[in-house]
Amino acid sequence: MEDRKVSPLHILSSSQFDRPFLDYMCVLTDTIRRFDKSKEGLMYLQGLLAHKRAMLYFTQPSTRTFLSFQTACQIVGMKTNEIRDSSTSSERKGESIEDSLRTFSSYVDIIIMRTPVPGLCDRIASLLNETDRPVPIINAGSGPDEHPTQALLDIYTLNRSFIRQGGIDGKTITMVGDLKRGRTIRSLSWLLTNYTDTRIIFASPPEFRIGDDLRQKLVAKGLRFEETDQLEDALRNTDAVYVTRVQDEYDQAGESKKVDSSRFHLKHHHLKLMKESAVIMHPLPRRDELDLAIDADPRAKYWRQERNGMWTRVALLTKIFGVDRKIVLPEL
Ligand code: NCD
Repeated sequence: MEDRKVSPLHILSSSQFDRPFLDYMCVLTDTIRRFDKSKEGLMYLQGLLAHKRAMLYFTQPSTRTFLSFQTACQIVGMKTNEIRDSSTSSERKGESIEDSLRTFSSYVDIIIMRTPVPGLCDRIASLLNETDRPVPIINAGSGPDEHPTQALLDIYTLNRSFIRQGGIDGKTITMVGDLKRGRTIRSLSWLLTNYTDTRIIFASPPEFRIGDDLRQKLVAKGLRFEETDQLEDALRNTDAVYVTRVQDEYDQAGESKKVDSSRFHLKHHHLKLMKESAVIMHPLPRRDELDLAIDADPRAKYWRQERNGMWTRVALLTKIFGVDRKIVLPEL
C-alpha cells in the first residue's frame, strides 16, 4: 500500500478551532501554569520538547508575540532560530518567499511566522504538506487578515475572567477602534461564534467598521452583533471591552489621520459607566486609545492578557507535538 503522509497540525486561522478544542486549550493552559510554581515543574516542562527546534520568521514588527513565542519555546526546552528582517536573508538575493520558507523547514521542526501578506501562511502550509518534511506552520499574524494565537489567548483571558460567572456564554463583548483592519478583531470575533448567546457590540468610527466579509460570516454563523458609533451606550451593557489601536501601517495615503477616532478612546471617566464585574482588554501595543490611568483599575486585564499569551503558546506547542498527553489534566 502507498505510504500516505499525515499533515501536521498547522495553526492558520481561528476558523479551524471548535468549542471542544477551545475548552481543552483553556484547561491545558491552566494546568501547564501550575508547573510554573516549582523548580521541578519547570524542569519537567523543559524536558518535554528539548529535542525540537523552531524557526521564528517575523517580517512585521512584533514585541509580545515574538517574545512570548520565543519564551514559550524556551519553557518547553526548544531551541530557536530567528529572522526578523527579510533584507538579511536570501530574499534580498531574489529568492522567493516559498523557497526561503522551504529552506527553514530543512533545519527546524516548526515555523512560527508573522508576515504582512494575507494568505501566505496557508500557501506555505500547503506547499510543505507536499514535501518530505511537512513541518507545522503557526500563523503569528498575517497582515490585516488573521491572528489566531492572539484570539486563543484572548479566549483564555475571557474564560478565566468569567470563571465564576458561567464562562463566555451569554456575555456581551464590546470591540472598539479600527475594526476594519484589526486582525485581532477578526480572529476573536470568529472564535466567539463558538459560544452560546454571546453578543458583540462593534463600536467604531464609520470609516473603521468591520469588513463585509466578516459581517457576512458572523451573520451566517448566527452570532448576535450590533454596530454603533456610540461608545458610552455600549460600555454600560458590556461584560468585556476589547480596545484596539488604529492600524495605520496599512494606510495607502495617510487616510487614518482624516478619521476622528478620539470618541473611541477609553478614558478613566468611562470606568464609572461600566459594570463592576467588567473586564478591559487590549492586544497591545497601545497608544492614546487606552488611558494610562486605567491601568490601576482592577478591571484592567491587559497585562495579564499579555502573560496569558505566553502560557497559551506553551500549551499550543505541546498540543502540536502531541506532548500535551504528558500533562495530567483534571477531568473535563
Ligand atoms: C496586535 C497585532 O500585531 O495584530 N498585537 C499583538 O500581536 N499583540 C495588535 C496591534 O498591533 O495593534
